[in-house]
Formats: sequence, C-alpha cells, structure tokens
Amino acid sequence: MLRLLEIEPAMKSLEGIVMELDDCAFPLLAGVESTSSLTTAFEGTSWALLVGSVPRKAGMERGDLLSINGGVFKPQGAAIAAHAAADVRVLVVGNPCNTNCLIARSAAPDVPADRWFAMTRLDQNRAESQLAKRAGVGVADVRNIAIWGNHSATQFPDFENATIAGKPAVLAIGDESWLKGEFLATVQKRGAAIIEARGASSAASAANAAIDTVVSLTRPTPTDCCTSVAVASSGEYGVPTGLQFGFPVVADGLGAWSVKPGFEHTAFAAEKIKLTTDELLSERDEVVALGLLG
Ligand code: LMR
Repeated sequence: MLRLLEIEPAMKSLEGIVMELDDCAFPLLAGVESTSSLTTAFEGTSWALLVGSVPRKAGMERGDLLSINGGVFKPQGAAIAAHAAADVRVLVVGNPCNTNCLIARSAAPDVPADRWFAMTRLDQNRAESQLAKRAGVGVADVRNIAIWGNHSATQFPDFENATIAGKPAVLAIGDESWLKGEFLATVQKRGAAIIEARGASSAASAANAAIDTVVSLTRPTPTDCCTSVAVASSGEYGVPTGLQFGFPVVADGLGAWSVKPGFEHTAFAAEKIKLTTDELLSERDEVVALGLLG
C-alpha cells in the first residue's frame, strides 16, 4: 500500500498522481491512498520517501528556506517516530535534502540514525551519464562513482576513484582539465540547469534516482561499485559526526549498510570535500540557531 501525504491543503496535483499510479498498473502496488494526516500517512510505514519541500524562490535567504522547511520536516520526523513500523527507513528528497533529513532525524531520536538517508543518487547518475558520454561507453561501464557532501552546487562528484570499463576514470578520460572543470561544474549545476530548461525542478530523473536509492540499499552492492547516498556521519573520512553527508555506501542486501572504505583523495579533491563539509556545517549552524534541531 502506498500512502501519499498532502503537505499543502488540497494539493490538486495529488489527484493526477493517484490517477497516473493507477494507470501504471504496477503489479506490486496494492493500492494508493492520499491523506493530509501525518498519523495516517506514516502508520506502519517501512519506507518513507519525503519528497515534498518548499523550493527556494528569488529573493529568499537560505535561512528563510531552512526555516520554512523545518516546519515541514520536523513534524514529519516526529510522526515517523510515533507511527512508523519498527523497521522504518526514510529517504529525504525534498531540498535542501541533507539538512531537511538532519531536521527530521533529530525530531525522531528513537529511530536509529542509520535509517535516515538523503538523496545524492541523482548526482551519481548524472556523473555516470556525463562520464559514459565522454568516454563513448555505456553507463554500466562507469563504476564506483561517489558523491561527497551536500546535494548542492558544492558537492564533489568523485572522478578520482571511479572506473570506466575497469580502468581508472582519469586514465580512461585522459583529460584531467575536463574532469576538474566542465565535468565537475555540469554535475554540480545540473539541478539548476534542469530548472532553467523546463521551468520546474527535475521530476522523472529524481523519481528514478529515488527508486535507485531504495533498490541499492536493499540489495547487495557489487564489489567494484558503491551507491551514493547521504547518511549520518560516524566520523568516516574525517567528516564531522552527525552531519547528513554524501558518502560512497555499500549495502549487504539484508538491511545493513556501511560507508565504503579505501577511497583516496588528491589535494584537489580534499579541498572540494572541505568546501561541501563547510557548507553543511553552516546549514547545521543555521538550523540550530532557528531552534529546529532536537
Ligand atoms: C535537482 O538536483 O534536480 C534538484 O534537487 C534541484 C532542485 O533544487 O530542486
């Protein structure tokens, strides 16, 4: 059973979504119910996908955005803690997704921190696609792409540890200035480019990445691969504990996951990862100041 939570009153678009879900005739979809009640929405839920948020508009300060979204994600976190199934897992897609996830997680201290995820898989898919195109191979040949940090323009799509058809991506591409320049900027700014091109945020690719995230976290990760997802840091790779941070993750297929060890970084990558870490720390400081944590 899929339950859709209406976060704004009378969301007209939900009607259309329910109709389209019916029309997909998904064999595993037992039914769709829409509700504006947090209790009903999360009752017995095993996977909660928090997709809706208020996007940043012209003239809006980041603090305004975090404050508005705090009002959306804090109650959802509390409702998940109170009503969801004991095995609940949560994927936050609505932006700014890392910090929205942090807000929701901190409103649900009884739900273990390793059950909370924010979506950086869309960035991984974007990076794979750009690398595959440049190398003239299929996307399946691009492996081990990690997205470090924030799902924002400061993220670091890690070409240094990726492989293409079994070779280090840097060698396969053979053009480090393209990797450090155009490739990086394209992936970092892709969300904004999509908004510019279609007048609305990514929809199909974001939905696809949400599905990829859930599938990758529930099936064993192949050894030459990782899946990119923002998880609660336990200090891996020196990232401050508790930040909801994009890492390379491996799953065991039985519900457990861990941050993949062994990634090495040049000074260039370390500087980029520091930038995105600093951005997440400053978002965390802002939500602390707004009283949205805990
Ligand atoms: C995306 O990366 O496509 C979106 O997260 C962009 C956005 O701000 O909605």
